[in-house]
Amino acid sequence: MVTRRALLNGAVGLVGGVAFASLTPAFMQKAGARQALTPRPELAPGKLHEWQIIAQEQSIRLLDPTRAPSKVWTYGPDLLPVHRIKLGDTIRAELINQLPEHTTIHWHGVRVPNNMDGVQYVTQPPIEPGQSFTYEITPPDTGTFFFHPHCNEPGQVGRGLAGILIVEGDEQTQSDADIVMVVKDWRLAENGDWLEFDTNAGASRAGTYGTERSVNQVSSFSENIPAHGDIRLRVLNLDSTRQIQVGVEDADAYVIAIDGNPVAPFALETWRLGPAMRVDILVRAREAGSSFALNDYFAAKPYRLGHFTSIASEVVAREFQPLGLYEAQIPRVDPALAERIKFDFSAAAGSAVAMVDELPDDHPLKDVLLDSLCIGNQTLWAINKQTWPGGDHRNLPPPLAQLQEGRSYIFELNNLTPHPHPIHLHGHTFEVLSSLLQKYPRFLADTVLLQPRDRIEIGFVARSGNWMLHCHVLEHMETGMMGWLKVT
Ligand code: C2O
Ligand code: CU
Repeated sequence: MVTRRALLNGAVGLVGGVAFASLTPAFMQKAGARQALTPRPELAPGKLHEWQIIAQEQSIRLLDPTRAPSKVWTYGPDLLPVHRIKLGDTIRAELINQLPEHTTIHWHGVRVPNNMDGVQYVTQPPIEPGQSFTYEITPPDTGTFFFHPHCNEPGQVGRGLAGILIVEGDEQTQSDADIVMVVKDWRLAENGDWLEFDTNAGASRAGTYGTERSVNQVSSFSENIPAHGDIRLRVLNLDSTRQIQVGVEDADAYVIAIDGNPVAPFALETWRLGPAMRVDILVRAREAGSSFALNDYFAAKPYRLGHFTSIASEVVAREFQPLGLYEAQIPRVDPALAERIKFDFSAAAGSAVAMVDELPDDHPLKDVLLDSLCIGNQTLWAINKQTWPGGDHRNLPPPLAQLQEGRSYIFELNNLTPHPHPIHLHGHTFEVLSSLLQKYPRFLADTVLLQPRDRIEIGFVARSGNWMLHCHVLEHMETGMMGWLKVT
């Protein structure tokens, strides 16, 4: 067995007896028989959840109680609230906007009807300060989802405006603990004020990083868990910018769902999550008194995301062979009949970014050029050479493509930039079919991390509506790397 360090250094690894080439380690997995997932049994009729969600500003001490308060924005009384419903349930959520600017709710990853998708000017009018809007959705899939506004995202999500939506009903055997872990950085000054959420240097490169990291709003997250239990960790990367590469230290762990979609369990080495991406991991706790950690191995020095200590429990020690979740019921692409469409993700033509991209990172001209940019009224990025107009959705550009409802499509996503882009398609769950650079297993997702120079194919069956396609690095989407598809 190679060490994780060797994997991270890009060494050729022998994993489970099978040699893998020196690819990005995030997608390496132990070889082993993949069992098929069990079909989901019939559902009992669901419940109606009536929520009133007041989008509001509050003063909260982030990270630890001794810090100066910050003006966070929340959906309701709690920062980053976690809502759990059962598959088949309906949510009727009235969003009341008490913020100083217009907002919406986009239900990220949930296959909602188009008019509930929460994109101002595209699927609904913006909800102005003092106004409200009622969303009604019956999520058709189980999983780990989240919701967020689709306006001024760096500023609104940067202040904390988002919530977590768990749709339960996917477990064949109930896990012994189910823990949501929200990974998010904050751009805080010493006095609790916010630092600028968008910067030229950030928007034109990989994005502007936070100054402080957190999981579930604390700097070091820990939990007690039942000894010998099966611990389900639902890890959500809700940061605006940061990529993480999660792995478990001192326990065996399997990936059981990606972006909420069940996969045949495979042993976790590490798994990479760009902004908006999620992974569900099943970890087997060891004896009372032992502990394990969930780490981010992206940086040279692993960062501890969570620390879990086993306490005495009724659970008996047994072999660890996860059964897998119930299979998702999502229409699959038919590659033989699929129409192929190419999307190039690039710097906007003629933008300074296009020139700056050509320079090495330490080139003395780079910062001078970047300083001359004004991202407020300039677009930096493009999809198929088309840029989303700066700042607003009001001047809707033509669609990137027109699709037919019910038809199979394969999108070829090409990254022509030196930065990674987590590409998100609204309203659909797609299958990641291939990648030039990564050894992916096939899996279902709503957001896929497109590495520099990579080409990834995704396949899906089109649903009718106007659906956004964009990078989920929030400053990239706000500065042009966003477009929409018209499906009729
Ligand atoms: Cu989280 Cu347009 O998406
Ligand atoms: Cu991007």
